[in-house]
Amino acid sequence: MNKTTSIIIPTFNEHDNIKTLVQRLSKALSGYEYEILFVDDNSSDGTAELAESLQTEYPIKVIVRRDKRGLASAVVDALSHVSGNNIIVMDADLQHPPEVVPNLIKAVEQGADIGVASRYIEGGGCQGWSFTRRMISRGAIFLAHLLLPATRKVNDPMSGFFIFKKNVVKDTHLNPAGFKILLEILMIGKFQKVIETPFTFVIREKGESKLNTRQQINYLKHIYSLMQRTGEFLRFIKFILVGGSGVLVNYGLYWILTRFAGFTPLDDASSGGIISGNLAMAISIETSIITNFLLNNFFTFADRNTGGIFRFFGRLLNFNLICLIGGLIQIGIANLLTITLGIYDLIAIPIAIIIATLWNYLLNNWWTWRH
Ligand code: GDD
Ligand code: MN
Repeated sequence: MNKTTSIIIPTFNEHDNIKTLVQRLSKALSGYEYEILFVDDNSSDGTAELAESLQTEYPIKVIVRRDKRGLASAVVDALSHVSGNNIIVMDADLQHPPEVVPNLIKAVEQGADIGVASRYIEGGGCQGWSFTRRMISRGAIFLAHLLLPATRKVNDPMSGFFIFKKNVVKDTHLNPAGFKILLEILMIGKFQKVIETPFTFVIREKGESKLNTRQQINYLKHIYSLMQRTGEFLRFIKFILVGGSGVLVNYGLYWILTRFAGFTPLDDASSGGIISGNLAMAISIETSIITNFLLNNFFTFADRNTGGIFRFFGRLLNFNLICLIGGLIQIGIANLLTITLGIYDLIAIPIAIIIATLWNYLLNNWWTWRH
């Protein structure tokens, strides 16, 4: 078996960092078989030329792309040039300490298909980050965990420092936008075991960060594109269709109960309609919650319908609770919009329904059918 570790390092104007990087890598990896692949996007500061000049001393390949830009796509392009079975991705600017690389290799030796150098586990961190930057980073991770359930087993799916076996991406079509190549691999790749190893993302001493607002927008686009490609968007549509069927069950059952089963219609106050009519409504609501639950369990979330009968009833209970709160949210928002803000009710209520539906979907996706 080929034991070479291929280290892919995308560069864009990193001239002042790569010599130190290569020296520290070579020191940290003495005794290991490895190769370094620089993927440079036509830097203007001589990064590629410097990398080529280091080839005499170190096992380095240099790939120069003339008309493309982008960190994640640079990694994808490099994949066709690696000769190792284990592939590491890291930054060139020394924010990813080369001394952590042996720990990543260890993760694979311990049976992991993917090893992540993680800032958000015990022992990891970010040096010199402001409160705001921390919050943005945490928010981005939360969004990924929320919308892309397969990332939930990784505490730091935004890390740009990781290892994976070549098989993980074999026969897959990677199409990442922006910076988050690990996110793409976690969602599209094929793997069983992930191990995270802590590291501290240190301050950049030389050169400049290329992370800008555009990259943050790219991140949102990337999440959306992954939702589409992995069926998570379709799941949401299914949930809405099931919700629509619930409205029919709810209304239809009320009609049957009050017209054919002896319950008094709600508007028939003289003959006890308040109690009997409301009872018919309550039965209809709960029945529609149960039919919605069954359809979601065996259709929308069929892939996560795990566990025995206890889990099944546990989920039914969760679903009931979340939908109940969803109903209260709808009432609260509808009241706020109409009574407090004076918005026309036929506009306010659809807005309230949309927000309550989002609540129901996200919370049930997160909790009831947790991954
Ligand atoms: N080839 C290529 N093309 N390389 C690029 C490009 C590009 O368009 N843009 C950036 N790079 C390289 C940089 O030269 C550096 O080696 C690495 O990608 C990371 O870029 P930085 O600009 O230093 O990004 P950062 O430090 O803000 O972001 C890093 O931290 C994030 C976590 O906060 C990256 O590691 C991200 O992947 C990581 O998610
Ligand atoms: Mn950086």
